[in-house]
Amino acid sequence: MKISQLLLAMLVSCAALSASAQTIIKFSHVVAADTPKGKASEFFAKKAAELTKGKVKVEVYANSALYKDKEEIEALQIGAVQMLAPSLAKFGPLGVKEFEAFDLPFIFDNTADLHKITQGAVGASLLAKLEPKGIKGLAYWDNGFKSFSANTPLKNVADFKGKKFRIQSSKVLEEEIRSVGGIAQVMAFSEVYQALQTGVVDGTENPISNFYTQKMHEVQKHLSLTNHGYLGYAVIVNKKFWDGLPADVRGQLEQAMKEATVYANKIAQEENDNALAGVKKSGKTIVYQPTPEERLALKKAMVSVHTKMADRVGKETLQTIYKETGFDPAKL
Ligand code: LMR
Repeated sequence: MKISQLLLAMLVSCAALSASAQTIIKFSHVVAADTPKGKASEFFAKKAAELTKGKVKVEVYANSALYKDKEEIEALQIGAVQMLAPSLAKFGPLGVKEFEAFDLPFIFDNTADLHKITQGAVGASLLAKLEPKGIKGLAYWDNGFKSFSANTPLKNVADFKGKKFRIQSSKVLEEEIRSVGGIAQVMAFSEVYQALQTGVVDGTENPISNFYTQKMHEVQKHLSLTNHGYLGYAVIVNKKFWDGLPADVRGQLEQAMKEATVYANKIAQEENDNALAGVKKSGKTIVYQPTPEERLALKKAMVSVHTKMADRVGKETLQTIYKETGFDPAKL
């Protein structure tokens, strides 16, 4: 073989080696690509490629294409996927019940109050609780505040009585529905549209971005803008995978995540506003804005959930949240 041929062969094999050395991160999630989480995960993928100069490729799988709610966490633990962003209501079955504090009805008046928690010491200590499960928490991403929907109007507390509502796998949410006389049914997100369509459940709760992008407005006649609880995400990775990355690559991915988090939290409200406009424009769902009195009645009915679930979410965590946000259930 001539020297030039040898050099060429070496170059080709080097290129092949570096191509095969590319690290793939499978990022699985359950919502539509066109949502705050869907867009933020794509943003992260782009930033990760840019900052690692192609050493890392993030493949985003939306809409439960790979795994449904419960399965995705198991898949992360065994390393079948590397990254997820489950809603904070989905960590209970994993044994980290404290995350369900975020599900307590009316606990956050607004996003600024919420950020005191997700971006402060409580948020960090909750993420740390995932480590013994082989999971590393990287960030919190917002979606928004939830509203209730059904095929009948939901104006007064009495309107919830005897209705079956799909909820995420959270005991706090189960108690929330019970507090207004409803029946809670845990169900994977990917099954909700069909369950609403066929009448397996009567209603559900979600931020409008999820409601609209899953086309739930096609199968729910009434949407009541209750904003009664928060839904957001913890972005998590398989800890062994993460710790095994070269330090420089991990640093670049941390930077990509930082930027994706700023982006996620910036677009969340806007995405929900656009979704609401879409629901209204469709003319398929009657959108109702509860009066301050109706909303207060719902809040008073649901506040009992705070006391009932205090032990589950941890009294200390709860008191710290109350102190930070000024929420006082005793004042209602
Ligand atoms: C739900 O299951 O209702 C949500 O958690 C879906 C999501 O990830 O936003």
